[in-house]
Amino acid sequence: MSDADLIATTKKGRGKMPAYAGKLTDAQIADVVTYTRTLQKK
Ligand code: HEM
Repeated sequence: MSDADLIATTKKGRGKMPAYAGKLTDAQIADVVTYTRTLQKK
């Protein structure tokens, strides 16, 4: 997924996953997406 897709899913939630808009700031959501990219195996 693109960063934009990951950010949108984190904000809106999906299925049983809660939405994070209003719980995390946009900056915090962008940070968590950046962090998960660091876990990716190359
Ligand atoms: C800030 C922390 C989190 C981030 C960045 C995040 C991100 C994501 C993303 C991007 C997806 C979509 C994956 C896909 O479509 O393949 C997803 C799915 C999911 N997440 Fe999270 N998540 C977070 C926290 C949580 C928490 C705390 C829970 C449990 C309470 C949770 C439960 C789920 C579930 C159950 C799905 C699958 C939803 C479905 O497709 O039905 N997530 N998450």
